Amino acid sequence: MKAITIPQEKGELVLCESASVVGRKAAEFFADTVEAAVRRTGVFTVALSGGSTPKLMYQVLAGPDFRGRVAWPQGEYFWSDERCVPPEHSDSNYGLVERELLSKAPIPRERIHRMRGELEPERAAAEYEQELRRVFRMAPPAFPRFELLLLGLGDDGHTASLFPGSPALNETTRLVAVNYVQKVNMHRLTLTFPVINAARNVMFLVSGAKKAPALRQVMRGGGASVPAERVHPIDSKLIWFVDEAAAAQLD
Ligand code: 6PG
Repeated sequence: MKAITIPQEKGELVLCESASVVGRKAAEFFADTVEAAVRRTGVFTVALSGGSTPKLMYQVLAGPDFRGRVAWPQGEYFWSDERCVPPEHSDSNYGLVERELLSKAPIPRERIHRMRGELEPERAAAEYEQELRRVFRMAPPAFPRFELLLLGLGDDGHTASLFPGSPALNETTRLVAVNYVQKVNMHRLTLTFPVINAARNVMFLVSGAKKAPALRQVMRGGGASVPAERVHPIDSKLIWFVDEAAAAQLD
């Protein structure tokens, strides 16, 4: 397998031979990060995401090797973004994580903080912001600092629901924003860059040949038009789990 090095400011890249290895390696990082946080503070906070690659990680985490290794009851579970659909809808990011992982782990329901995709989007964003401030006990202008935040990469360079050219890209004060995404004709709720960049550990999960051009742009510096390029966590770890197909256009 070839080795790939990326510019230091882009973090660390873990090259995996397939999407299922991405799921496995990412699950190991998830479990190690949670374990360290629980040792340090007794609790952990995580922002989960939707997408086909994270789904593979959730399946590994719910399996026999990891289910007993993670201190599930000690977590507070949030989402990086959500589609504006009810929780039982097949497009719901909450629904995906609930089905694949949360329903299989011993997690008190009050620790699960979903974005309410069924509400009017501005109201759902405002409520989620309040929920974040309540759980993190943090008044404005401070931003919550997640222990671990999960992100995917879209083939247009979007991450979370921060799409190219969308107004939410420039949000500097709010924790949660609404984006109307023309391409899919849907409103989305998303954490904003100040929250993403305040996290202690940010992990990207990227797989598939369709992602190769976007990944190359991010790593080479594609300019402000590539949203994922704006992920620069402050004083923290940024790690990319990438399969060979997605990495095919990297040097
Ligand atoms: C969503 C995600 C989105 C996703 C990427 C990658 O709700 O669609 O938040 O940002 O992570 O599009 O998705 P895949 O892992 O399915 O390629």
